[in-house]
Amino acid sequence: MTSDCIDPISEIVSSRQRALSLNDVCASVCSLATVAVDNSARTRVMNLNGISGRSFELHCSEQSSKWQELLHNRAYELLLWWPSVARQYRIRGELEMMPKSLVEQSWLRAPYLFKLLDRFYQEYQPLGSKLQNQQMLLSSINHLKTKYPNEQEVPPPQHLRGFYCKADLIEALYIDNLRIHERHCYSYTENSWHHELLVP
Ligand SMILES: Cc1cc2nc3c(=O)[nH]c(=O)nc-3n(C[C@H](O)[C@H](O)[C@H](O)COP(=O)(O)O)c2cc1C
Repeated sequence: MTSDCIDPISEIVSSRQRALSLNDVCASVCSLATVAVDNSARTRVMNLNGISGRSFELHCSEQSSKWQELLHNRAYELLLWWPSVARQYRIRGELEMMPKSLVEQSWLRAPYLFKLLDRFYQEYQPLGSKLQNQQMLLSSINHLKTKYPNEQEVPPPQHLRGFYCKADLIEALYIDNLRIHERHCYSYTENSWHHELLVP
């Protein structure tokens, strides 16, 4: 049986708020699964930069494998698992690229060392390339500290990218050790969310 229902995103947002208030480190990240160019599966943890409307905002570098994979095949699954509130969400849907200016604005608030590492990708070696040894990276970062001594004046690199995972299918699993779990499936069609309860 399918029925119209309340927007599941507002439920996700309030669960996340509760998880954050319980200092759940998982609430600020997600796992993104993509399809590699050779059709094999890839997953990795990413910061979940924000949720608005049906969109989950993620940032990366255009040098990263995931960016190349998404350009090649827009299929993805986003996994949210918040132990403190015992909720899992699996999200699929469309992919929208973020305007670069918005990614840059957010990057300006990043910690100093993260900014320097992003400069390293641009000025020394690209992300994921073979590194001779860790010392080479550390001395290059020290050199970048001298070049950009002021945290606020590190220029944004060219390779910053971001995208929105725009949900049209959400599967929520509510786990409770004292009761039988609940599994809810939400699909977005004809401008509204529809709900089905599944065997957990
Ligand atoms: C807590 C945590 C947060 C991360 N956040 C991001 C992120 O926001 N963006 C990103 O590109 N990689 C992030 N990473 C690194 C990725 O997991 C991954 O190692 C890297 O992006 C290379 O992945 P790729 O080769 O599949 O592109 C994060 C890793 C951890 C452990």
